[in-house]
Amino acid sequence: MSDKIKSTHVIICILVMAIIVMSVLLGNKDKNDAKIYDSKTYLKNQQQNMFQNQNPNNFDAPPDYDRILEQRVIENVSKLTWDDIAGLEEEKKAIQEMVVWPSLRPELFTGIMTPEKGFLLFGPPGTGKTMIAKCIASQLKSTFISISASDLASKYYGDSEKLVSALFRLAKRRQPSIIFFDEIDSVLGKRNSNEHEISRKIKTEFLIQMDGVGSSSTDRITFIAATNRPDDIDEAVLRRFQKKIYIPLPSRSGREQLVKNLLKETPYELSEKDFETLVNLTDGYSGSDLANVCREAAKAPIREFKSIQMIKGPLRPLKLSDFENALKQIRPSVSIQAIFSSLHWNKDNGAFWNDQLEKQYQEFMSKTIK
Ligand SMILES: *[C@@H]1O[C@H](CO)[C@@H](O)[C@H](O)[C@H]1NC(C)=O
Ligand SMILES: *[C@@H]1O[C@H](CO)[C@@H](O)[C@H](O)[C@H]1NC(C)=O
Repeated sequence: MSDKIKSTHVIICILVMAIIVMSVLLGNKDKNDAKIYDSKTYLKNQQQNMFQNQNPNNFDAPPDYDRILEQRVIENVSKLTWDDIAGLEEEKKAIQEMVVWPSLRPELFTGIMTPEKGFLLFGPPGTGKTMIAKCIASQLKSTFISISASDLASKYYGDSEKLVSALFRLAKRRQPSIIFFDEIDSVLGKRNSNEHEISRKIKTEFLIQMDGVGSSSTDRITFIAATNRPDDIDEAVLRRFQKKIYIPLPSRSGREQLVKNLLKETPYELSEKDFETLVNLTDGYSGSDLANVCREAAKAPIREFKSIQMIKGPLRPLKLSDFENALKQIRPSVSIQAIFSSLHWNKDNGAFWNDQLEKQYQEFMSKTIK
């Protein structure tokens, strides 16, 4: 009996002590947290702390999209000029007229000539669409805001529509500005039945924002998108682009110009005739294919040495045969089918069409019929 009473006493003692310890601790905590008035303020403070030592990998923190975008998507393009884009003379001229002039002299383009704000650059990959967009931004002294599908689909996936509205907010804050969206078909593709809820939200937000840009007469924001597959773009999105500009593979003179640009710092010995042969051999090569060819050809003089230590003095200049060998390694990346389908799409939807394109189109048609 007395043992029981004893143990009860012990238990009560322990309980009382525990209560005392706890209340002391809680009391201190109250004092420590005296500055925290309520849970709302507390949360806000916490969030602000997170933004201060911002870690984009921190999934718990609501990301500060405005700041993330500001740091990641703006590119300095002020150095670029049209001369940095080889060939594409017709296209550059058309773009000047359609995109650059109205923005440079808005007072001349009023009423029915009100500048358009949505442009789609389409055509085979590797033809310099991104460069063109950058050049437009440089000409217009605009902030160049560049975003790709991967930016939207990355870690912020799920909150992407907030990223989209932050993107347009940024463009507004930093106007005149150009929003450039590469590979737009991958995010704003045609709707289908198994479309993800998130992509639907992104698309809706884009449409709302694009309409906002389009309807404002004071905002100086231009939306430019690029795609290799215009056919895959959602129709509602497509309608928002007033002009769809075809950027084809480089022409003969374009290819010659490109090769000369690429070899600016590499010695070569190529006659007029050699250039003609080279141009003949590279029919169907895109700008980036040609860059690969030149890179490969430029390695040839080095490969003639058994070891790198044996190279004394400057390398020999490149010859036509170096290019011919390189062309055996590097094949054109764009299929005839892909060229034809963008040409065909251009005929139906493009902002310009000329005799040269018509001729090309007819040639394709006759080939496919055979
Ligand atoms: C962009 O680059 C140019 C020249 O390279 C420089 O003068 C200019 O200050 C830069 N602009 C920004 C915003 O960094
Ligand atoms: C290039 O091709 C054209 C027409 O296909 C041909 O007339 C010309 O002789 C070719 N030039 C060279 C150097 O192969």
